[in-house]
Amino acid sequence: MIIMKVIRVESYHEMSRVASDILVGDILKKKNIVIGFATGRTPLGLYKNLVRAYKNKEIDFSGVRSFNLDEYYPISKNSKRSYFSYMFRNLFGLVNIKGANVNFLDGSVGDWKKECESYEKLIKKNPIDVQILGVGVNGHIGFNEPGSKRNSVTRLVELSDATRRRNSGIFWKAPEKALTMGIKTIFSAKKIILLASGRDKMKAVERLLRGEVGSDCPVSFLRGHKNLVVVVC
Ligand code: GLP
Repeated sequence: MIIMKVIRVESYHEMSRVASDILVGDILKKKNIVIGFATGRTPLGLYKNLVRAYKNKEIDFSGVRSFNLDEYYPISKNSKRSYFSYMFRNLFGLVNIKGANVNFLDGSVGDWKKECESYEKLIKKNPIDVQILGVGVNGHIGFNEPGSKRNSVTRLVELSDATRRRNSGIFWKAPEKALTMGIKTIFSAKKIILLASGRDKMKAVERLLRGEVGSDCPVSFLRGHKNLVVVVC
């Protein structure tokens, strides 16, 4: 059975609320849930709501296990630009998740191949129950840029100029490469919650909902996933 739910809402605030309501429900149902987390601007409201729910004692992260989607390469964990820092700043450092239950691709390793293979194995052993996803303007998911294959797994990728430009700051330029879960890895999650906010994401969302499925817009590969929730505003 294929479930694809599209929830259209009026605001970013509403999108974050819908997403956190779903995730809070999932955490309450399964104490040792495995969650795949995404970074970027889009899930920040969701993370704020999760922190609030934790502080209000509605949810507990002590059993929660996590895998993050991607990380720049090379980058040190301590860099404030790393996705590792982002997650601790915006969620992990503010709730009671156990450090040992947090899984991340390490952007500082020399042997990226080994790092990607062991991440892939670890996910196979601990299947992701719910994967949170944002989407790039060019349709990328994680760092699976256009050209990524449907059967791609966790690997080192080159970032497109557009993605690097968008992710860079005034004083910081995003690295040329990154480590990312592949499309196949993402697809293996039992449930996917994709969040998209803003006009510039609508073309990619349309491709996912109605357009042609293909490598030139990686998010389109999610069509046909057995349990996909798309929340758009
Ligand atoms: C980044 C991340 C993705 C994220 C996307 C959208 O490059 N690697 O995981 O979903 O781009 O980012 P934003 O939410 O800031 O628009």
